[in-house]
Amino acid sequence: MIVTTASLYKLAYGKYAIGAYNINNLEQTMGLFRGCLDSQAPFIIQLSKGARNYTNKRMLEAIIRTADEIFPDAVYAVHLDHGDEATCYDCIDSGFYSSVMIDASHESFEENIAITKRVVDRAHARGISVEAELGQLGGVEEDIKVDEGHASLTNPTEAVEFVHQTGCDALAAAIGTSHGAYKFKGQQSLHFDVIRHIQEKIPGTPIVMHGSSSVPVEEVRRINEAGGKLDPSARGVDENEYLPAAKLGVTKINIDTDGRLVWTRVHREFFRDKPADFDFRPPGKIFMDAYAAFIAHKNTKLGSAGQLPAVREALSGAAKA
Ligand code: G3H
Ligand code: 13P
Ligand code: ZN
Repeated sequence: MIVTTASLYKLAYGKYAIGAYNINNLEQTMGLFRGCLDSQAPFIIQLSKGARNYTNKRMLEAIIRTADEIFPDAVYAVHLDHGDEATCYDCIDSGFYSSVMIDASHESFEENIAITKRVVDRAHARGISVEAELGQLGGVEEDIKVDEGHASLTNPTEAVEFVHQTGCDALAAAIGTSHGAYKFKGQQSLHFDVIRHIQEKIPGTPIVMHGSSSVPVEEVRRINEAGGKLDPSARGVDENEYLPAAKLGVTKINIDTDGRLVWTRVHREFFRDKPADFDFRPPGKIFMDAYAAFIAHKNTKLGSAGQLPAVREALSGAAKA
């Protein structure tokens, strides 16, 4: 059942975080739905511009609609990840999305507000909620690369003005993470002081954490043993920090890279061990199982595991479309 993102936020805020997982194909979709049902968790499906252009944006929509029929017990929202203004309008007008993210964080503060406000006005007229970003994460998002020197944490005082002036429903804040597999070298923690300040300034507004993959050392080791060349010193977010962050209002936690690592590990190991094989279905099946287990594990760390019966009861009759 596709529901509004706002309804999921309302139930989760301050208690647990909802996993927001990017999908690009049917194998990820099957693993995602199965993992969320196995762990009895609500979730958010995210589609990036890259995912929408990978084949055809309507293909992903059709895959999700079919998954909805195969897994009628699932409760989730569909979200545009890192949209520009034109893509946000396309998703809003499609009637399929529960929410969009307008990412104008690379613009000046004033321009970010102006663009975000235009998107909010158009989205709210259709009952769709908007996530907007303030501050700059390091790493690569879509076609924009931000080096660490230009990454900047969200200023809590600016956050209040930004949310009030734009009317956005959720704030993607830079709180010490970055996108991709190369976030930190060595141990690093989230900036809990900044999260706390933001929550004090805009209580009740869900905070979104991008760049939340944990880049498991064991996954990187196995990929490299099977022929990969990932930097073995790569580190991500400590999974044990998800829940403490959720208690401070971090309500949506975005995870993509870790799922790509699962895909890479499964396929590298499979073809290393069976070099004469060329049927993609056997590793595809292994991947769907591994992806489902990965999702269930993440949901446990986010605190969303086990919440599905209460969410379903609260939202029954509130399907989005
Ligand atoms: O933050 C970006 C997400 O990981 C999506 O990545 O733009 O390569 O689909 P993508
Ligand atoms: P990761 O690269 O850490 O998985 O972050 C994904 C993300 O923020 C998608 O918007
Ligand atoms: Zn992101």
